[in-house]
Amino acid sequence: MRTQVAIVGAGPAGLLLSHLLARRGVDSVVIETRSRDYVEQRVRAGVLEHPTVELLREVGLAERLDREGMAHEGITLRFDGGDHRIDFADLVGNGITVYGQQEVVKDIIAARLAAGGDLRFEVSDVSIERIDDAPVVGFTGADGTRVELACDVVAGCDGFHGISRGNVGPDVFDREYPFAWLGILAKAAPTHHELVYANHANGFALYSMRSPEITRLYLQVPPETDAETWSDARIWDELGTRLGADGFTLNEGPVLEKGVTGMRSFVAEPMRRGRLFLAGDAAHIVPPTGAKGMNLAIADVGVLAEAFTAFLQHGDEAGIDAYSETCLRRVWRAEHFSWWMTSMLHNQPDGDPFTRRLQLSQLRYTVSSRAAATSLAENYVGLPHGAEL
Ligand code: APR
Ligand code: PHB
Repeated sequence: MRTQVAIVGAGPAGLLLSHLLARRGVDSVVIETRSRDYVEQRVRAGVLEHPTVELLREVGLAERLDREGMAHEGITLRFDGGDHRIDFADLVGNGITVYGQQEVVKDIIAARLAAGGDLRFEVSDVSIERIDDAPVVGFTGADGTRVELACDVVAGCDGFHGISRGNVGPDVFDREYPFAWLGILAKAAPTHHELVYANHANGFALYSMRSPEITRLYLQVPPETDAETWSDARIWDELGTRLGADGFTLNEGPVLEKGVTGMRSFVAEPMRRGRLFLAGDAAHIVPPTGAKGMNLAIADVGVLAEAFTAFLQHGDEAGIDAYSETCLRRVWRAEHFSWWMTSMLHNQPDGDPFTRRLQLSQLRYTVSSRAAATSLAENYVGLPHGAEL
């Protein structure tokens, strides 16, 4: 079997890449170990940067997003007993859109299937056999048939636990944080129209949402926490304490989903070896505090689609040669921003009083200086694709 681009992984990165390539007349096959149902139901983050929304609109993937996505023009930082709004619209002229990652995934899958795209779910024994100038990816299809997929280039979009990164053998830069997030999805109408990032003596809490009926909430917890040790009553109680503020009520409701997410920063350099190119979580992880994970994956494949097209249609290698460096500039900007938000908002388990005072000073400065607030806003809303970073 033969295609131009073999895409390993059907998360936002792999799926969007296949869509962008198809629009440019480039063939691809996407192979995914999980089922379609699994990838469409997997609950992840839900903040789309402005440049992400623009890109999805440009390529015809925003019809439902424009209808159901929730446009937000700011966020609130809650600390020291007070609320401080960062007004994105005023500071940088744009906002973000709250729309679940799995909704983006559903929309792209529907578009690919409607266009006759080749998506193979529930494959097994995936192996990247060659990454020289005649690459081959092997896999066993859902029906048990072994396939040797010959191609021109391979896109490793198989997430943090995939096999692609091992075939690139990059240098790795990483940091683990001494805490994790316990997240819930609750059938409870949001009571506040924007996200609230709360720094509290008991630890960080985040108030988010998915729709006018569904709230998404997070609590800082120790790493390795077993979600089952947190009863629903205990979660609501702790959320009430950490998010408590004058005039703020928290609607409680049935907990639809509960899970613990570890926090790490991770970058693989370079994002390419031979004809194998990494994109998205396969190459980098950010802690969720800056809501950058999916946005970075989408920015990567925007660059990669253009580079692959120039190479495959015109033999032009400039784009594929610059791919890693171009993406890593945005990646490191997001790594810094996510690390900074994380450090500013979470409690250090050792409770070091010097660090605590630095945090409070940084929070006060961020909300009182227009320059500092603008820096947060432009990073959060997303620096334009193609920006000099
Ligand atoms: N072969 C094929 N597919 C694989 C393999 C493999 N060997 N290993 C993993 N996969 C699949 C996973 O099942 C998953 O569906 O690759 C996909 C990778 O998707 P994501 O993890 O969603 O990664 P990505 O597309 O880069 O999107 C990044 O996901 O983790 C979140 O918050 C992160 O929002 C960010 C986004
Ligand atoms: C979410 O809604 O899941 C979410 C929002 C903002 C973040 C992280 C996650 O920083």
